[in-house]
Amino acid sequence: MRPLPGAPGVAAAAALLLLLLPRARADEHEHTYQDKEEVVLWMNTVGPYHNRQETYKYFSLPFCVGSKKSISHYHETLGEALQGVELEFSGLDIKFKDDVMPATYCEIDLDKEKRDAFVYAIKNHYWYQMYIDDLPIWGIVGEADENGEDYYLWTYKKLEIGFNGNRIVDVNLTSEGKVKLVPNTKIQMSYSVKWKKSDVKFEDRFDKYLDPSFFQHRIHWFSIFNSFMMVIFLVGLVSMILMRTLRKDYARYSKEEEMDDMDRDLGDEYGWKQVHGDVFRPSSHPLIFSSLIGSGCQIFAVSLIVIIVAMIEDLYTERGSMLSTAIFVYAATSPVNGYFGGSLYARQGGRRWIKQMFIGAFLIPAMVCGTAFFINFIAIYYHASRAIPFGTMVAVCCICFFVILPLNLVGTILGRNLSGQPNFPCRVNAVPRPIPEKKWFMEPAVIVCLGGILPFGSIFIEMYFIFTSFWAYKIYYVYGFMMLVLVILCIVTVCVTIVCTYFLLNAEDYRWQWTSFLSAASTAIYVYMYSFYYYFFKTKMYGLFQTSFYFGYMAVFSTALGIMCGAIGYMGTSAFVRKIYTNVKID
Ligand SMILES: *[C@@H]1O[C@H](CO)[C@@H](O)[C@H](O)[C@H]1NC(C)=O
Repeated sequence: MRPLPGAPGVAAAAALLLLLLPRARADEHEHTYQDKEEVVLWMNTVGPYHNRQETYKYFSLPFCVGSKKSISHYHETLGEALQGVELEFSGLDIKFKDDVMPATYCEIDLDKEKRDAFVYAIKNHYWYQMYIDDLPIWGIVGEADENGEDYYLWTYKKLEIGFNGNRIVDVNLTSEGKVKLVPNTKIQMSYSVKWKKSDVKFEDRFDKYLDPSFFQHRIHWFSIFNSFMMVIFLVGLVSMILMRTLRKDYARYSKEEEMDDMDRDLGDEYGWKQVHGDVFRPSSHPLIFSSLIGSGCQIFAVSLIVIIVAMIEDLYTERGSMLSTAIFVYAATSPVNGYFGGSLYARQGGRRWIKQMFIGAFLIPAMVCGTAFFINFIAIYYHASRAIPFGTMVAVCCICFFVILPLNLVGTILGRNLSGQPNFPCRVNAVPRPIPEKKWFMEPAVIVCLGGILPFGSIFIEMYFIFTSFWAYKIYYVYGFMMLVLVILCIVTVCVTIVCTYFLLNAEDYRWQWTSFLSAASTAIYVYMYSFYYYFFKTKMYGLFQTSFYFGYMAVFSTALGIMCGAIGYMGTSAFVRKIYTNVKID
């Protein structure tokens, strides 16, 4: 047999995937220290309190660096690079279990320019983030007095570090030493370190960053319960309606079967059976349709796997590991995309399968990279730390071409060979049947708009929690909830699209493929509208960078969610359609 054309690519893919895994760091990877061993305080970013994603390098403000110069090198993972993590060594001398009395570590020569920079930062409520042993610490840059004329800088960092055995389990920072910013003075920056024995277990050291009273609020439980009730109700309703109506339909159709030809001509045959010769006609634009379905299946697989991984492992304890995991899983699930997209395209009689594979493989990456590229321009203009380094861009492109594409090819070939046969229960007529006039609310456009309401209703409270954890300083950790909501979303989506499709086919309109996809995908429109509400009423973001970041990535998120829902809806509906036409006798 001829070797698969993608084989060398797959080897390269495996190598690249290995690169993607978070690399071991020599210095603090073990999280254990000997007495007097060096503990590194990493300065990360500084930025406005209300704009979480608008971050700059800590040293973009004219802070001074401590005298210690030994480490300034940090290996960041792909996820960190994409999230704008910029760790730089603070120059502070900290040793494990070695108290430091209050000491000056450097001096800022405050000229006019530096003062203006600090004043601007204080006016915009800048705060900064640091890391000790992967534990985040936040501090405020400074304060303005009431009438907004005098500005003060916090100059004294009082660190209290809790240890348990040979591990660091707790860090508290207190900012003290308010110094008024007067041009042409010298400002001394000082710090002290106090080590305290702590009973916190190493495994639980992130617990203090979690916010159970927010995430496990009664409303959250209530919303899950509510959605769950809705699902039970909906599933009951759908199965009842469909069982009864379908049984009636079948009875009617079999009665007509027994009538002789004369009667039948006079008889009123109507309903979904009439379109049996068209219902399996390929959808319009099969190429883009199958690419969307393939991508949607992949997004679903990625969501499922990432949520399960997040449930098992506390991904939030490591910077950027969520994003790295998501990229890794996305690349690894590319065959899913190829399989479903490619087999659907083959069943629809498509011939340009290579083109379909390319479009299917690059649909989502192109959408994400396009948005990132656009926002990157603004980030570069702002000198924000979110500007993606060139090396990272190259890495992402390499992943697309050497991992995602070959794996997609494997999936496509499998899909075309294993389930590419159009074994439909009914033959497709040569001539398409005209679509009869129908009531306005049976028009596909109306069905599409209404279809998204219930799925959106079942997830929007969870959306609030997800948005809040992404756009504000909260760590999302209740992945069990998320899993439940995903399951609920799937069930609701499938139920709704099945009902929509039943009505559509009953109105003798056979264009169900796009209608079922879009009626589920319209959930995305509601989610995007909700994100506007969230922006204006729940956040205090401002500025071009943060606003475009918010709306750009919300658009990406909503679209991905929409494609996922659409694919789920289509898959469910297509099983339903196949089922009902298998059972009816077609003469
Ligand atoms: C940090 O602050 C918390 C809350 O005030 C306190 O319970 C904890 O003991 C402090 N940890 C250290 C190491 O001082």
